[in-house]
Amino acid sequence: MKIISMVSAMQSLAIQTRQKCRCIGFVPTMGFLHEGHMSLVRIARNKSDIVVLSSFVNPVQFGPNEDFDKYPRDETKDDMLCEREGVDIVFRPSADDIYTNDHSVYVEEEKLSTGLCGKFRPGHFQGVLTIVAKLFNIVQPHVAVFGGKDAQQARVIEQMVRDLNFPVEIIIGPIIREPDGLAMSSRNTYLSQDERKRAVNIYVSLCHARRLYEQGVRNTSVLRGKIREIIETDVQPSEIEYIEAVDYTTLQPVTIVQNITLVAVAVKVGRTRLIDNILIP
Ligand code: PAJ
Repeated sequence: MKIISMVSAMQSLAIQTRQKCRCIGFVPTMGFLHEGHMSLVRIARNKSDIVVLSSFVNPVQFGPNEDFDKYPRDETKDDMLCEREGVDIVFRPSADDIYTNDHSVYVEEEKLSTGLCGKFRPGHFQGVLTIVAKLFNIVQPHVAVFGGKDAQQARVIEQMVRDLNFPVEIIIGPIIREPDGLAMSSRNTYLSQDERKRAVNIYVSLCHARRLYEQGVRNTSVLRGKIREIIETDVQPSEIEYIEAVDYTTLQPVTIVQNITLVAVAVKVGRTRLIDNILIP
């Protein structure tokens, strides 16, 4: 396994790899890897000859009061997990190499990124799209794999690839959960023992909504109401940012479940912001 830190070295290697007609599969991450990330590596490996995993805590996608400074890092463990999973290249650039002092070009999406997390994290998706576009140009993947846990992010990236004609196939992997159902996240490490126990009820509330749907409930205000009730009582969050039901393609709110509907929540448990979602049907 190669660990590359220079942008120029990564890009040259990508060009050479493509010249040899080898398919590049790419998994962009911010490091502090867990089973959710590794599930994406496995998907990439099945789809390609060379798997590149990038690990870069992208300053541009964090707001001024967010957790950029304390975002967890463990490069040794990350490298071990990557080695074990058969990653060929870990690309771990420095912020200086990625963003020069006079960097001035950003990628903006104007529709899908405005609701859900976009409403609460102004500039976040501009930061995500800018780094993902840059990484696509550096790593030059044929296939890139993203997690359904960040459903809005995945949709916004699909839209960028379509609208800017990136020659990259986007694959979205399923959400990987802890045994009790909590969606795996690098940020779960911030939770105290008590917060961790309560946090599982985010998923419990989504499962309850799915059950109501299966019993015939189609009105999304009923589904959202039930989710809110369970979250308020059992998660006891410090803040509920949103509980939304949106059309999975347009990410616009829906009142009745007809097409594939993304039911998504963002809550703060203590000071930790957690997101989760399910797709119904
Ligand atoms: P990060 O939070 O490290 O996540 C990297 C990838 O792993 C994302 O595609 C995310 O959706 C996926 N992922 C995280 N938890 C998951 C889980 N429990 N199950 C399945 N997939 C999961 O998302 C980012 O980094 C950044 O925004 C990035 C795209 C790298 C741009 O900086």
